[in-house]
Amino acid sequence: MKIFVTRRLPDSIMARARALGAELHDSDEVLGDGARAALLHDYDAILCTLGDRFSADMFAGDLRCKIIANFGVGYNHIDADAAKGAGITVTNTPGVLTDATADLAMTLMLMALRRAAEGERMVRADAWAGWTPTQMLGQNVTGRTLGIIGMGRIGQAMARKAHYGFGMEIVFYNRSAKELDFPATQLATVADVASAADIVAIHAPGGAETKHLFDATAIAAMKPTGILINTARGDVLDEAALIDALQAGAIFGAGLDVYEEEPVVPAALRALDNVVLLPHLGSATLKVREAMGDMALDNIEAFIGGHDVPNPV
Ligand code: DGY
Repeated sequence: MKIFVTRRLPDSIMARARALGAELHDSDEVLGDGARAALLHDYDAILCTLGDRFSADMFAGDLRCKIIANFGVGYNHIDADAAKGAGITVTNTPGVLTDATADLAMTLMLMALRRAAEGERMVRADAWAGWTPTQMLGQNVTGRTLGIIGMGRIGQAMARKAHYGFGMEIVFYNRSAKELDFPATQLATVADVASAADIVAIHAPGGAETKHLFDATAIAAMKPTGILINTARGDVLDEAALIDALQAGAIFGAGLDVYEEEPVVPAALRALDNVVLLPHLGSATLKVREAMGDMALDNIEAFIGGHDVPNPV
């Protein structure tokens, strides 16, 4: 079995992959489309990450690849139906990054509510002239209403932290009915959640089915004091519509960890003070990234051993 790892991963994972005889692209650079397509012809197993697009056309013809183990829970960069059609198993890493990603969504929510990034920029620029009673006034968090778009694992984790940690009321949109073990109200539409919530957090998976699920209409339904958080995938949110709303001051602010064309963050967003911008850090702790790497390799090892893979998508 020939195994290929497409990116530099934490040391312990690189060591484990090396011990399995994997070939390692020990670099932070994303392989080009041609090189990535060639992997499907040359290797039995590929461990890839979210920058590695495997589009439908790449799955045509006679391929050697039998398993693509994705390092991450979101796999919208892989055409999973086309992979299945080509007889390739795709796996992901659910669970291990749930809390870390929900924690980052909480971080963005708190930063946006309290204008923390704006304040930090002011201090760094040596532009702080001293405390005043009306300087950089933000909003309270305790007792506010949090709207969750997509009540999967990460949405639930954020909702629990917000409800039990900050006494927040929870409303949510989910495409199917959800029974939950904490108090939360399911609403019928995304716009219903947008208008009922003080803070809206997007946790729906990316891909064609959810493209611009949170669109201009949903943004227009938000309260003027509303805050929008996205730690899921950039394409779930209509980024241009958000920029318009932030520029017009139609909502209070936003906190983003993901973007439509990563790593491109539009200049218009970067120019705004009322948005907190992070570089896709949702799962970025060493412990979580090691767990993700171990899980991806567990799937490859199970496959090689002729066992059921633990995390098929
Ligand atoms: C995932 O697993 O999908 C995350 O976005 C990676 O950080």
